[in-house]
Amino acid sequence: MSRDYYIAGNWKMHKTRAEAVDLATKLVAELADGSHKYLIAPSFTSLEAVALIVKGTRIRLGAQNCASEEQGAHTGEVSVLQLKDVGVQTIILGHSERRHIYKEDDALINKKLLLALKHGFEIILCVGELLEERESGKAEAVCERQIVEGLKGVPAADLDRIVIAYEPVWAIGTGKTATPEDADAIHAYIRNLIGKLYGNEAAKKIIIQYGGSVKPENAAELMAKENIDGALVGGAALKAESFVAIAKFKAS
Ligand code: 13P
Repeated sequence: MSRDYYIAGNWKMHKTRAEAVDLATKLVAELADGSHKYLIAPSFTSLEAVALIVKGTRIRLGAQNCASEEQGAHTGEVSVLQLKDVGVQTIILGHSERRHIYKEDDALINKKLLLALKHGFEIILCVGELLEERESGKAEAVCERQIVEGLKGVPAADLDRIVIAYEPVWAIGTGKTATPEDADAIHAYIRNLIGKLYGNEAAKKIIIQYGGSVKPENAAELMAKENIDGALVGGAALKAESFVAIAKFKAS
């Protein structure tokens, strides 16, 4: 495959600073000889401590969200300027937990994405359908809307800093994984959509991660699919052993 595999760990709202430092330290050691692209996204409170550990290694530092404004009276929010200041390189946006628990809509996600791009970040834009949307045959339409609206105003020149993560909501934290075939079908649909929006070269290059109950046991099988270029891992990213096993999957 011409695209590099990209394996990312989203630690969600887990780990104290000491626990985050401990996990990051193990990952740096274990993945020093890894051959793919890696990222870990700890909570805001651990970013600075983890930044010191991953600096200069092959593991990128990610944040799980950012504010839609640069600075100002926005109690409880964290700005791109603050994230840049502590060494964050990538920001995860539009995660289903942000969309569905915290009611972030496509317009807000798009505003955040444009601001993050302006400040030089790489973005992992998460998309994915709810169970009822899949069951009513709307999975592709939902992903299409989230991508078209999420990338509104993004010029082709910035597309190399965009990664898409397809995370069917019904597969997140449930132990239910989309079959590799089902996931690959949506990934192919997304790649085709990027082709329509940005042209064939962009479509060939864009990294599309799969997320939703990725584990050491299913990683290789998912990643063997033509359009699956990596993983955005939740639960299994919280232990060095399972994340390393996923990160070092053997491509077939
Ligand atoms: P799980 O791997 O725990 O299903 O979480 C996936 C996810 O939401 C990653 O962002």
